[in-house]
Amino acid sequence: MKNIVILISGSGSNMAAIVRAAQRDNWRKTLGAQVSAVISNRADAGGLGLAREALIATEVVDHKAYATREAFDSALADAIDRRQPSLVVLAGFMRILTPAFVARFEGRLVNIHPSLLPAFPGLHTHQRAIDAGCKVAGATVHRVTAELDHGPILAQAAVPVLAGDTAELLAARVLTQEHLIYSRVIAQLLQNS
Ligand code: GRF
Repeated sequence: MKNIVILISGSGSNMAAIVRAAQRDNWRKTLGAQVSAVISNRADAGGLGLAREALIATEVVDHKAYATREAFDSALADAIDRRQPSLVVLAGFMRILTPAFVARFEGRLVNIHPSLLPAFPGLHTHQRAIDAGCKVAGATVHRVTAELDHGPILAQAAVPVLAGDTAELLAARVLTQEHLIYSRVIAQLLQNS
């Protein structure tokens, strides 16, 4: 069985969409794959409850318990490795990863970012797209490299920016597309692995 480990920090709606797709399309049978664990760096991440409801193993590796970024990443990598993952999925995981971590999971690490990369890496992407006068915005699924929000693009989805949009309205419109493209890319990667 190919194991998928999903890393979250917050509400976990992308994680939940992936779990729903895995159930709906019976990934165990069709892809020989399963979401085997959801790991959060925050104990109060809302997504942990959703994962538990779906009967998926959860784990918290609290970054505040480690003195350095390297120490946290090493503990996180050990927790991930215990699940022997074929794929490590960053889904709203809000920590910058060290080059050592990225190297350890090279070829198995993917992220979703709420902009049409290479535009707007980093935070506050929706407000920045509105402020720049963009007519389209969107989301990007990409392989993770040591440089933040870079790495080969696997899929993108675009949505219109509408007159009167706020960052919240645009974020919600983008998020519905994130939920569609992320599980699709993951299924494709598992099929080819
Ligand atoms: C998503 O917009 C994702 O692209 C970004 O953070 C948000 C996480 O949302 N990295 P959720 O936790 O999946 O609901």
